[in-house]
Amino acid sequence: MTALLEITGLEVHFPIGGGLFRRPRGMVHAVDGVDLTLEEGEILALVGESGCGKTTLGRAILGLVEPTAGSIRFAGTEVVGQTADARRDYHRHVQMVFQDPYDSLNPRKTVLQTLAQPLERHRVVTSGDRADAVVRLLDRVGLSPGPSFLDRYPHQFSGGQRQRIGIARALAVEPRLIVADEAVSALDISIRAQILDLLRRLQREDGLAYLFITHDLGVVRSFADRVAVMYLGEVVEEGPTDSLFALPRHPYSRALLDASPVADPVRARARRTAPLTGDVPSPADPPPGCRFHTRCPVARAICSREAPARHSFADGHWSACHFAAEAARWQPARHPETTPA
Ligand SMILES: Nc1ncnc2c1ncn2[C@@H]1O[C@H](COP(=O)(O)OP(=O)(O)OP(=O)(O)O)[C@@H](O)[C@H]1O
Ligand SMILES: [Mg+2]
Repeated sequence: MTALLEITGLEVHFPIGGGLFRRPRGMVHAVDGVDLTLEEGEILALVGESGCGKTTLGRAILGLVEPTAGSIRFAGTEVVGQTADARRDYHRHVQMVFQDPYDSLNPRKTVLQTLAQPLERHRVVTSGDRADAVVRLLDRVGLSPGPSFLDRYPHQFSGGQRQRIGIARALAVEPRLIVADEAVSALDISIRAQILDLLRRLQREDGLAYLFITHDLGVVRSFADRVAVMYLGEVVEEGPTDSLFALPRHPYSRALLDASPVADPVRARARRTAPLTGDVPSPADPPPGCRFHTRCPVARAICSREAPARHSFADGHWSACHFAAEAARWQPARHPETTPA
């Protein structure tokens, strides 16, 4: 079966320093050789520290930055280097929801104007019934009665309501994939839960897939089917959510999980590794070998010399750590019942 989204060898490098007549001083390796696959209706979480390249990867998928190298195939069709016409069709299928909808909604446009625009641009409706179509959209994202919202401006809504409008705008063109970049991070807990419920309902009803970019591992655990962990432009581990949380196979993933707050005191006591320390190395000059070796609690000599290959485990779980197979030994399992014998 053809995957909905298939990314291979994706690189996005940004020049630093240069100018019109000056050569750049170097390149930021924001995304550096990423392979990712997303199936129809799947929720893939993308996690990692600030600056590791999550947003850049999302923007490359949306066509907002041009990849330096690599391929992005959507439902089997190459997207990189597409003509403007073909890209328009693609943009109907792939939409983005941002962290702060207030930044991405035009403050001078009413809800009707904001939501009618994508409907018309992609010819989803004719101008005659656009108000009806907008009301239906508002209904779907839980803003009802829809007609009472049509003539209001973004500043007249709460943060949660604005995020619903941001989601409605993405839904307007009937997408198959939504890249959600920290879409619930700025919301307080009860509103966050409501928005996550809404996203999950839309996924069930429409078979939508999400690339869900977040810092919040608690949300990942309850929301995502699979998790990809990024470090300095690379995906270092990927696997089904349960499997990755039960036994992270990369010391970096382990450190991230350990750094996230836990409510369970038994699990909290079971933490043995030191928290993540040291600065993230510059993405303009990533360390040789395994990029994480400068901060890794279990690094050995080979780690600074050789880039690790992928080690595969059950259910498509893999890790790019030389010692992935020893993960159960260098750390306590989170759920003893799932520890391999
Ligand atoms: N347009 C750009 N020009 C130059 N460098 C950039 C550009 N956009 C991003 N970068 C750099 O690329 C790297 C990855 O940035 P990116 O925003 O993708 O990280 P992120 O994982 O989304 O971080 P955060 O969690 O803080 O949102 C960073 O070093 C950033 O400074
Ligand atoms: Mg970001």
